[in-house]
Amino acid sequence: MVKVGILGVGTVGESVAKILIENSDIIEARAGRKIVPMLGAVRDLSKKRAVDIALTDNPEDIINNPDIDIVVELMGGVEEPYRLVKKALSNGKAVVTANKALLAYHRYELQEIAGDTPLFYEASVAGGIPIIGALRNGLSANHIESIKGIMNGTCNYMLTKMIKEGVAYDDVLKEAQELGYAEADPTFDVGGFDAAHKLLILGSLAYGIDAKPEDIIIEGIDNITQTDVEFASEFGYEIKLLGIAKKMGDGVEMRVHATLIPQDSMIAKVDGVMNAVSVYGDRVGETLFYGAGAGGDATASAVIADIIEIVRGNSSPMLGYKKSLESGLKLLNKDEIVTQYYIKLKVQDKSGVLASVASTLGEYGISIESMLQKPSKKEGKVRLLFTTHKCEEKRMKEAIKALENLDTVESDITMIRIEK
Ligand code: HSE
Repeated sequence: MVKVGILGVGTVGESVAKILIENSDIIEARAGRKIVPMLGAVRDLSKKRAVDIALTDNPEDIINNPDIDIVVELMGGVEEPYRLVKKALSNGKAVVTANKALLAYHRYELQEIAGDTPLFYEASVAGGIPIIGALRNGLSANHIESIKGIMNGTCNYMLTKMIKEGVAYDDVLKEAQELGYAEADPTFDVGGFDAAHKLLILGSLAYGIDAKPEDIIIEGIDNITQTDVEFASEFGYEIKLLGIAKKMGDGVEMRVHATLIPQDSMIAKVDGVMNAVSVYGDRVGETLFYGAGAGGDATASAVIADIIEIVRGNSSPMLGYKKSLESGLKLLNKDEIVTQYYIKLKVQDKSGVLASVASTLGEYGISIESMLQKPSKKEGKVRLLFTTHKCEEKRMKEAIKALENLDTVESDITMIRIEK
């Protein structure tokens, strides 16, 4: 019998214990041994749980327990789980974690510490979708050209409800929290940090990139307005929070931001809490992975898949490489990324204004792809909306500064990147 200890019995932890009990027949058949949830560690012992499992308020009771074979870490946070996971590994226990923040900061140190002891983390990215296994195993013959995905269920749920049902930002955030999708601190979701943590993990598996959150562009959905949604739709786009990692020569660009994607692309149709990740391999072509990106049972499904793999004796390398690539790829600087942009600005409605905006863009070598002019509700003002051809982020930022300095430009400029 294999005994599991769970650090953190919240939404996901309860589901892990419940599924281990309720699906024990199929789990035992697939793993070859019976797997039981033995003990859970929680902060508040008096709180009622939806599952019957022995509890302690001391995590050391799990990581130092000689009867426990596998430690499941579902606490959240970074430094305390890091300390506990290191200790569990040094006590010889296999570890399964769903903690993307922990891995975003410490995955390389943990790989080193784990050595041959299994440390699996399928649930850390895109909830129930087996994207880690796909990159580590199923797609391992390929050079990965790109990864693009909706990796935060909360943001996708919120954007869908705001765009399709007109629900207000605060109300829909509250709903996502009640449904157990959002992080304990939801600014991780809406600020793009949760998706960035996941992207960094995928960047290691696909490209061997050892980067931290501060090294990549991270923007959220908090500045998206209904006006942007409507205008985006006039240009034929949907707005999604995307994580993008892409090989460009010897470099890799990695970024998370609200993105305009063509309305007819498959990812544009992914709504609600669902996530989707498209991986383009040089040999396989495009593959698309779709499923629930958050929620107790969906995430627990991935946690238990890892437990089963450990019990079966799977020992594939934690970050996918047995030895490092000789010609390593480098993370591109944030300013070096090249993409298309949508920009929105409010200007005075008088002669020569459009020409001066277009000529400022031209001075920075930015070529306009399409343009719309909309009268604003305010007398004597118009909104100008542009989409551009590809240009470097640095040039676009400089052009925006120059535009904001024009006397005829009346507002801050909204900029949203486009991905086709
Ligand atoms: N808060 C995360 C999300 C949970 O909304 O996707 C899954 O990582």
